[in-house]
Amino acid sequence: MKKYSYHLLLVVAFCFLHTRSVTAINAQKICELKHKIGSEKFPSNFSFGVSTAAYQIEGAWNEDGKGLSIWDTFTHDHPEMIDDRSNGDIGPDSYHRFEQDLAALKELKVNFYRFSISWPRILPNGDISSKNQKGIDYYNMVINKLISNGIEPMVTMIHYDLPQALSDLGGFTNEIFIKYFRYYADTLYENFGDRVKVWVTFNEPFDYCVPGYGSCNFPPMVRASGVADYMCMETTLKAHAAAYRLYKAKYFETQGGKVGITISSRFLYSKTNDNDAVDRGMQYSLGWLAHPIFSLSGNYPYIMIEDIVSNSQKEGRAWPRLSALKSWWLNAIKGSGDFLGLNYYSSRYVEEALPPKGVVPSWDHDAHLKYDIDSKWRRAKSTWLYCVPEGLEDLLKWIRDNYNNVEVIITENGWSDEGTLDDSERIDYLKAHLQAVLNAVNSGCNVSRYTHWSLIDNFEWQRGYTEKFGLYYVNLTSENKERIPKRSAIYYKRVIETKTVIDN
Ligand SMILES: *[C@@H]1O[C@H](CO)[C@@H](O)[C@H](O)[C@H]1NC(C)=O
Ligand SMILES: *[C@@H]1O[C@H](CO)[C@@H](O)[C@H](O)[C@H]1NC(C)=O
Ligand SMILES: *[C@@H]1O[C@H](CO)[C@@H](O)[C@H](O)[C@H]1NC(C)=O
Repeated sequence: MKKYSYHLLLVVAFCFLHTRSVTAINAQKICELKHKIGSEKFPSNFSFGVSTAAYQIEGAWNEDGKGLSIWDTFTHDHPEMIDDRSNGDIGPDSYHRFEQDLAALKELKVNFYRFSISWPRILPNGDISSKNQKGIDYYNMVINKLISNGIEPMVTMIHYDLPQALSDLGGFTNEIFIKYFRYYADTLYENFGDRVKVWVTFNEPFDYCVPGYGSCNFPPMVRASGVADYMCMETTLKAHAAAYRLYKAKYFETQGGKVGITISSRFLYSKTNDNDAVDRGMQYSLGWLAHPIFSLSGNYPYIMIEDIVSNSQKEGRAWPRLSALKSWWLNAIKGSGDFLGLNYYSSRYVEEALPPKGVVPSWDHDAHLKYDIDSKWRRAKSTWLYCVPEGLEDLLKWIRDNYNNVEVIITENGWSDEGTLDDSERIDYLKAHLQAVLNAVNSGCNVSRYTHWSLIDNFEWQRGYTEKFGLYYVNLTSENKERIPKRSAIYYKRVIETKTVIDN
């Protein structure tokens, strides 16, 4: 009798706790996009993939003839700049374990895989005179195995990991970079272009130019804000256009692929209906590169040219820190993108900051804006990442309206946490953002692909291994570095199979 009532109590207690935890999970949805526009299903020509980058997953930093990249030297020389003093020397070790990544890709049933090529792995000095066949063999193996498993390769030419040898020449502040990049791109088209049909030249230029050459907290750690960061963006634009024009002239006829660039952007909202502040913010971020390439008129956004020419004059300079592109480059850059690659993670509120804040000169000071969040937005492990799915829908509509409905490939979107396998937050984020993309598609936005960041947990730059974005957990302490599917992997697989934003 005594024993019986004890059991009953346990059962009652269990049911109570169980009901409570289920309600708690439902109530804790980090964000939702409730409004739906049109069809529930993605068009049949819409495709789904996942994304990674060489330095974040490959390891093998000094094997088989690979040269150094600025991320090798940065992490080795400045471990204090990485939260857990870690680096990508070994990491998930995809250089030796591509089979494990492939197994995950096959399990997900992705249509394509976006990965990046390590420039110093195939051209150790950055120059074609230093061609490393073993590096080329590695990427041939990756590309061939993807294709034989029905997965399309999408290649980013450089994802932050500039060859150290080119950084020694001034990196993106030396215009000779344009020539090196053009020859590197030529090497890629020549070796892989028979099988790779979607090329991304650069990944997130703002994010390596402004912190890398302006505020000095990203390699190559140059502190010349408002000057070298603007030079870096201009060199990037020109090098991108050079690689694009080379493809059109020399390879398009036989290879028939597409070349674009990946730009990261938030959407900006105003609490006070200040459309000028929103436009200023969008032009200074997405517009900085997208306007010269994708607008009908080309060139930098007018507001940037006007501000920076005027500020440079006030500073007593002999020439402006940024000026309108001259007609040869203007025309080479204008239209030099078959698609706009978009990395979207989060949004902000914006208003004008007057008088301007920030050091003189700097991008911050030129843009004179301040940013805010909504207290209702839920934050990820990353301090900058709030879940704002409507921002993605509104950003895609903004691109549709400002850039002649250019084809958009969402090249990254994702959520960070501690790395738990039961990642219901990532599922909420994914579901809400897929609904945002579907709403945009149903509103006539020319979006053709969605790519989730990332396939596997990996080296998250200055955050080291403290923030995890993977659909697959990687056991970094085990000898085999197993890739283990999180709940979000199972969810995404069902989305891909049905092309529908399914409820979970
Ligand atoms: C979408 O982009 C593709 C590829 O650039 C283009 O051919 C097509 O016309 C665009 N669609 C619309 C509706 O603008
Ligand atoms: C997908 O198909 C639709 C309908 O046929 C078409 O309007 C759209 O341009 C296509 N998108 C791409 C990227 O090919
Ligand atoms: C990771 O691998 C280690 C060593 O094999 C093992 O002890 C540990 O349980 C694994 N962790 C997970 C979460 O699988």
